[in-house]
Amino acid sequence: MINEKLEKAFNDQINKELYSEYLYLSMQAYFERLNLKGFVNWFTVQVQEEHAHAMGMFNYVHERGGRVELETIDKPETNWESPLACFEQVLEHEEYVTSRINALMDVADEVKDRAALSFLDWYLKEQVEEESNVGGVLATLKLIGNDANALLLLDKELATRTFVAPVIG
Ligand code: FEO
Repeated sequence: MINEKLEKAFNDQINKELYSEYLYLSMQAYFERLNLKGFVNWFTVQVQEEHAHAMGMFNYVHERGGRVELETIDKPETNWESPLACFEQVLEHEEYVTSRINALMDVADEVKDRAALSFLDWYLKEQVEEESNVGGVLATLKLIGNDANALLLLDKELATRTFVAPVIG
């Protein structure tokens, strides 16, 4: 049976992952408006990944005999000044998620739940990858500046991203 404090921390993180899904769906809508279909594809994959992250924890809490209680999902922003500003927020958000995963692991550590720590290891590694991917796109956007042709080239590259259902835990 999962410890009550840890169960609460997992429920908080499920909410954060669902918020991430919602935020990236809002960003997807922004790129639809810009007609940048490669970016739209990138966010389509990102949205699926965030849903998978939330469901991984949702299933884990149940597997451990705990109770999932869904909370209200905050309204995300709906507009950005530029693709660059949007990706600056993506990186900032992922860094925040990393800090929350670390905090969740601190709770698992505090209640000496080694099984949960081992489960959460996957999320920690995933965050390193997420920050690295986003950082890569952000660096390219900084180089691109106001060059529309270069932006379209990046859009083509982002169109190739595909979703691979993760095996979590
Ligand atoms: Fe679920 Fe992008 O962290």
